[in-house]
Amino acid sequence: MRPHILVGITGGIAAYKSVQLVRTLCLAGCDVRVVMTEAATRFVGRATFEAISGNPVYEGLYEGVAEVRHIALALWCDEIVIAPATADTLARLAAGRADDLLTATALAGTSPVVVAPAMHTGMWENPATQANLATLRRRGVHVVGPEEGRLTSGDVGVGRMSDPEAIAAAARALRVGGRAGRSGPLAGKRVVITAGGTREPLDPVRFLGNRSTGRQGVLLAEEAARRGADVTLIAAHLEVAVPAGVRRVDVSTALDMRQSLRDTLERADVVVMCAAVADFRPAASAVTKIKKDSFDEKAGLRLVRNPDILAEVGALAERSFVLVGFAAETEPDRTGLVARGRAKLAAKRCDFLVVNAVGWRSGFGAGEATAFLLSAADDIVTDISGPKARVAEGVLDAVASRLGGASA
Ligand code: CTP
Repeated sequence: MRPHILVGITGGIAAYKSVQLVRTLCLAGCDVRVVMTEAATRFVGRATFEAISGNPVYEGLYEGVAEVRHIALALWCDEIVIAPATADTLARLAAGRADDLLTATALAGTSPVVVAPAMHTGMWENPATQANLATLRRRGVHVVGPEEGRLTSGDVGVGRMSDPEAIAAAARALRVGGRAGRSGPLAGKRVVITAGGTREPLDPVRFLGNRSTGRQGVLLAEEAARRGADVTLIAAHLEVAVPAGVRRVDVSTALDMRQSLRDTLERADVVVMCAAVADFRPAASAVTKIKKDSFDEKAGLRLVRNPDILAEVGALAERSFVLVGFAAETEPDRTGLVARGRAKLAAKRCDFLVVNAVGWRSGFGAGEATAFLLSAADDIVTDISGPKARVAEGVLDAVASRLGGASA
């Protein structure tokens, strides 16, 4: 079931960043409903959030009275994320006020609450605000940020709302840790996932890379953790935040990734190779920046082949883990995609392979994927297309049934 997230938006200029927060949560497969305070609507319009969330936006305590909306919303949501949370909102939450829809909903419900404060440094440092925060923390409210940096007033100091990705990650972490925790269907299983795109340096400032953001790998890590697994994410240049509760190992090049994977393989039960790995690297990488006037155009760029990490792992004589590969293909139709996928599945000797349709406008960075799951054991092709969170569920359902456990 998609997590139900209620995003509360209060009246601060950082509300414009909450558009990105709602989008990030939606892309991660959440069903998001937005409640705005009257002050928030002075900064960003309701229509923006309705379009991004695909749900109506609620504002007034006296709208939808017949359905007792603050109670209905409190029962509906699995989590409340208030971003930005102004100093006034923190004060009203701490005092247990319920004179607008957002505070009434927060007071009525029992779901975990995340707040992302945003305000001027002076307001943040005021003992009144700090006392309110201490009260909220004591009651289990999770506080993300604020960060230090340039403020709207032109001053520099603590008070900027955290990055939307970081807020979404904190919200995810609370669900991952708080819900299934370590008792899910993958409890006790060690899952290693590669994610992101490797970068092969040409010189200290340039590299050969690809468009992978790492979103699919991170969603796999999150879903595996939600099902109770002990997850290691081998991360190459992620553009998305990693939920707490997932062990992250940062790597840069294909060779780094290969080494980190080797270090973790021995104890793994499942290995999912989701990363976009560069097939080639520059034959040499310059110690200093390559100058255009000294570059030998005739000789061009000489590349050497990187190891195929998935194929190496698939060829291991005695492996005791379930191996899942990914394939990014630009074939226009299902038949072509599946044919390419089958060939890669056989060549790289994995147990499962997810074949993904990619192109100039699809695949990398997108929220949805066209994806088919192929299995080495049979001819069945499972269409797991949809939001990337659904792709992650489809992969882990197959892995869980292979391991002999039930799917979540
Ligand atoms: N892969 C890998 N090492 C490489 C290249 C790819 O481990 N040097 C893995 C990826 O993590 C993915 C799978 O192999 O799980 C397929 O990646 P893809 O880029 O689709 O295929 P390639 O093997 O690179 O084949 P081609 O470029 O010919 O499509």
